[in-house]
Amino acid sequence: MLGVRIALGGCRGRESLRSYVKARSWLSSMAAVQPQSTESSSRRTCSSFTNPAVKPVEQKMGPVCSYNEWDPLEEIIVGRVEGAAVPPFSIEVKANTNEKHWDFFKRSGGCSFPAEHVERAKAEIEELCNILRHEGVTVRRPEPVDFQKEYSTPDFTSSGLYAAMPRDILLVIGDEIIESPMAWRSRFFEYRAYRPLMKEYFRAGAKWTTAPKPQMSDELYDMNYPMDSVTERNTLAARGRFVTTEFEPCFDAADFIRAGRDIFCQRSQVTNLMGIEWMQRHLGDEYTVHQISFNDPNPMHIDATFNIIGPGLVIVNPDRPCNQLSMFKKANWDFVTAPKPVFPDDHPLWMSSKWLSMNVLMLDPKRVVVDEIEKPTQEMFRRLGIECICVSIPFANSFGGGFHCWTSDIRRRGTLETYF
Ligand code: ARG
Repeated sequence: MLGVRIALGGCRGRESLRSYVKARSWLSSMAAVQPQSTESSSRRTCSSFTNPAVKPVEQKMGPVCSYNEWDPLEEIIVGRVEGAAVPPFSIEVKANTNEKHWDFFKRSGGCSFPAEHVERAKAEIEELCNILRHEGVTVRRPEPVDFQKEYSTPDFTSSGLYAAMPRDILLVIGDEIIESPMAWRSRFFEYRAYRPLMKEYFRAGAKWTTAPKPQMSDELYDMNYPMDSVTERNTLAARGRFVTTEFEPCFDAADFIRAGRDIFCQRSQVTNLMGIEWMQRHLGDEYTVHQISFNDPNPMHIDATFNIIGPGLVIVNPDRPCNQLSMFKKANWDFVTAPKPVFPDDHPLWMSSKWLSMNVLMLDPKRVVVDEIEKPTQEMFRRLGIECICVSIPFANSFGGGFHCWTSDIRRRGTLETYF
């Protein structure tokens, strides 16, 4: 039986005795229990659970199925810059952006981004899509939406941002696709750009969940959140004070990163403790959501800080050390320190740091999409025996993301495993 699971499974590279034993005990406990609901039985189909009494059959994978960040990629959503708008300069935007760009946000909030920049980013992303297709991946795109349109809810008025970073909003866990509530008012309606795709996946059999929509009234934000000095913010973060409060659950999908049954996440400027708790209760006993933290004055989206690229293999950011290192050491995980980014200083990064250099996308455990300019990072991958597919998207980077942020995995060939 175990042999069948291994044969049917995806790339698990490091099949240690530890996970072998865990997989065995999981299997025997599963074999003893009859499916109790359609929900658990559908999960089981997706994780290639087969009844020992019947002959193994070709695993039938649903339209949505992914358990980690590195199994062989079959289908992906790539974001879209068309229609992007500069978000209004509200407190949560201020808390998440570098002060050197604050004038830009003040001046241009609610308007489009510089037209030439958008055009160049668009061309870069088209090229990224072509490269992914060439590598055998099915590429899907969100709808073009005019994000400059203003909207009002009973609690606030705003205009939008973009559908450029599907990783921020969509989280795929097994055969389920979760639309995140988000935490920026400018991102409240972002899900609309993905709805045609969500409906298509749903019709084809995926589980589709939208997390509780926050009100995003003033109570969700600490309007007095101090942001004058980085040292001060560091202290605040260490004490658990962020621009978002615990008024209601909020999270962005990109604060979660998947490794089979273990999912790692951070309390950030956009993900609060209630949001993390919602995720754990929603996913239930089959998964463990681990909250981890970093020495980071401005946490938002974990994938330029802690990027899991293989079973028990993580790229870590030397500027943002992880506070739970011992927990990973105990599990025998390997941490590889990301080299310093070489991205030029004079190119605007409106919504991120240069650490997009480590925001890479795994096509499978042995192939990575990495920035053409980031030679030291490429060297690091080659030393790990991972082939680099070099792509250049500097204008797209300006919008706040690298290859991991610009995409969201829909299907990776693999099964639910324990790696931690
Ligand atoms: N906050 C990160 C940084 O500045 C960028 C993370 C981007 N990730 C994303 N999924 N949008 O380093």
